[in-house]
Amino acid sequence: MLNADRTDPAVLRDRIAAELQTARERTAALTDCVDEQELTAQHSPLMSPLVWDLAHIGNQEELWLLRNVGGRDPMHPEIDPLYDAFEHPRAERPSLPLLPPDQARRYAHEVRGRVLDLLEASPLEGAPLLDAGFAFGMIAQHEQQHDETMLITHQLRRGAAVLAAPPPPAAAGGLLPAEVLVPAGPFTMGTDTEPWALDNERPAHPVDVPAFWLDTTPVTNGAYQRFIADGGYDDPRWWTPQGWEHRVQAGLTAPLYWERDGAGGWLRRRFGAEEPVPADEPVLHVSWYEADAYARWAGRRLPTEAEWEKAARFDPATGRSRRYPWGDGDPGPDHANLGQRHLQPAPAGAYPAGEAPCGARQLVGDVWEWTASDFLPYPGFRAWPYKEYSEVFFGPEYKVLRGGSFAVAPVACRGTFRNWDYPVRRQIFSGFRTARDAGAA
Ligand code: AVJ
Ligand code: FE
Repeated sequence: MLNADRTDPAVLRDRIAAELQTARERTAALTDCVDEQELTAQHSPLMSPLVWDLAHIGNQEELWLLRNVGGRDPMHPEIDPLYDAFEHPRAERPSLPLLPPDQARRYAHEVRGRVLDLLEASPLEGAPLLDAGFAFGMIAQHEQQHDETMLITHQLRRGAAVLAAPPPPAAAGGLLPAEVLVPAGPFTMGTDTEPWALDNERPAHPVDVPAFWLDTTPVTNGAYQRFIADGGYDDPRWWTPQGWEHRVQAGLTAPLYWERDGAGGWLRRRFGAEEPVPADEPVLHVSWYEADAYARWAGRRLPTEAEWEKAARFDPATGRSRRYPWGDGDPGPDHANLGQRHLQPAPAGAYPAGEAPCGARQLVGDVWEWTASDFLPYPGFRAWPYKEYSEVFFGPEYKVLRGGSFAVAPVACRGTFRNWDYPVRRQIFSGFRTARDAGAA
């Protein structure tokens, strides 16, 4: 959302209503295509049943918009603990007395009706939660984040395909250099001005970044297959001690969803279909440990979070940090593979219009990119509006991912956006690119 939109409450109201509607259409598409049994089943202990996400979306919307912003009484106080993510870990959610699918849908729908009434009457200023429509923007992003979570569940589920989308655009613009140089110097990391940025993206602060080289595109399946063929999974030299321990204990031999095809090649399962692994597509479903090992095998390393953000946002022509690699304008379909318009990453080298000033492509969209960095607060961080969004997760046990995947909605994606997960996780839409110091050599 451009800052200019803030000036006119009618424009902001329309924008909010449209974002809420877009999110709800996606939620419906992800939950109407499977039957009751599939909605209530747990497809993996890593994930909630889809029907939990559905009612949790409604419950968070009720909590933040109807109760906190609107001052209304709880609609069904007895269900609140069921949908509190901290009270019940994902693995135990199927055994809870959850609302059945029809009731979950009705609840989310009733909440939304009241929220739209509230939005009509809201001045969208005068209180921190209201300013620039923050709480509404937070809730639109929250629903979209759970839509990505539900898409992860769809990928985990067994059975025939129920989702479809056209293929993403091809690579464009000819042969690209393997890596691009980001010269040394300070840049502004994080933001004070992006109205719907979440607490962990704030505040803006200067960071001095030494010169480094960054892969022009995310690491592809073809490159990753060379790591496998070279025995990368069997050589502890490439792995950190914890990474190696995990690799052995979990029996990792390839990205999640890959299988040998019996003729020396690889197949992958993708949303209910089995297909040859496309060599030119960014590698997907790798853990931080695998990404880190690949980088070491390649004689490189993962970029830090600051390096990633500088490559994505810094404009040397003005010295400013911009909202996106291509500039300050909202993401369009030519800029980046976002919003589940496609059900896979685009080939490396696609989206020339989304190129960053440094020449890197596909920093936003396609695959979440693991960084070398732990999830830590920026200097001056203040938990807002609740400490369970970010603060309770800060620490060395989580690694930061940047850029967003094909499953991330534009409203939940910015050059400043930070995602985090455990280094063993790979059911998420995770890939990576590598870097190296530019140094003297
Ligand atoms: C930012 C993706 C790690 O899904 O756990 C959803 C987002 N926070 N509901 C998550 C979130 C509360 C969060 N991640
Ligand atoms: Fe949530």
